[in-house]
Amino acid sequence: MKTVISRRRLIAGGIGITVGAPLIAQDNVIDRMMKATPPQQLGPFYPVARPLDQDADLTRLDGHTESAEGPRMDLFGIVRDFDGTPVPGATLDLWQANVHGRYLHGGDDREDLPLDPHFQGSAKVTTDADGRYRIRTIIPGIYGVGDLVRPRHIHFTIDGKQSRLTTQMYFPGEKENANEDIADDSMLVAKRAPALDEAITAFNWDVVLPFG
Ligand SMILES: [Fe+2]
Repeated sequence: MKTVISRRRLIAGGIGITVGAPLIAQDNVIDRMMKATPPQQLGPFYPVARPLDQDADLTRLDGHTESAEGPRMDLFGIVRDFDGTPVPGATLDLWQANVHGRYLHGGDDREDLPLDPHFQGSAKVTTDADGRYRIRTIIPGIYGVGDLVRPRHIHFTIDGKQSRLTTQMYFPGEKENANEDIADDSMLVAKRAPALDEAITAFNWDVVLPFG
């Protein structure tokens, strides 16, 4: 089962288009958005204050000798437009919980969950000439919201040339994915990939923007 987004939800959501939409017929707009990576909520913990270090390795902070707690992972992929053309120069603004499930955010007051002073927590990376990106981070912890347990995820806002997509990336084979009806073959779910470096778990997640 693919993740299906209804036309009504796409229209009601009003997401994704910064430029260009007025030039394209409405049916074409909807068609492109149906083929694109689905949007998801921004969530409450978008990083308003960040470490100065926002590079692609979230496991290390400039000036720290220790590194982040938790199992490392590599994540890589390609950002493409709706017909498969890579989007160079797209920016991926990402943020995630630490290994304990806590965010580096003043609004995350779950003090029973430890902060990790060596975890970068967020990053901004740009796709290369072939539309490729790569980050190294830790596998985020699972956390609850009220009685609900959220599946493991990483938040993204991705800016292409004519699209802005806010979404969340999930992990394959996680039983908590069922809590939000996220199937392993959804465009929101990364795929396991051969390790790029030693024994670090690697995932591939490609992104499709509706307008590139
Ligand atoms: Fe989250």
